[in-house]
Amino acid sequence: MKKIILIGTVAFFASCTPKTAEVVETATSTTYPTAEISQGKGLYDAKCSKCHKLKVVDNFTTEQWSKILPDMAGKAKLPDNETALIQEFITWELNN
Ligand code: HEC
Repeated sequence: MKKIILIGTVAFFASCTPKTAEVVETATSTTYPTAEISQGKGLYDAKCSKCHKLKVVDNFTTEQWSKILPDMAGKAKLPDNETALIQEFITWELNN
């Protein structure tokens, strides 16, 4: 009888852990100051991880990004408005 209660308790804690992680993730994704930056981040995650792993924005300078982004936007065939939103996100990320 004791064993059953123990297993039940472990299963209960195990099932709770992923949920907590999810909540934390949602909270961080909504801390961007504007809707544009938040949208840009979404596009960055979705469009910029197709050919390579997502690059860390802070690993490159503003100077480097001014060459990389047009190049990558071309590779990803992004429309201008999406490129502009990603640019907003990159600019914000570099300053934060
Ligand atoms: C069609 C494929 C493709 C897509 C989509 C793509 N990239 Fe790339 N990217 C490459 C290739 C190929 C390289 C060079 C090899 C590497 O570094 O992995 C590269 C390299 C990079 C680098 C490193 C540049 C350097 O000088 O070291 C960055 C940063 C980068 N991509 C950012 C992005 C961003 C931001 C997006 C979304 C707008 C994006 N990529 C979308 C293909 C792509």
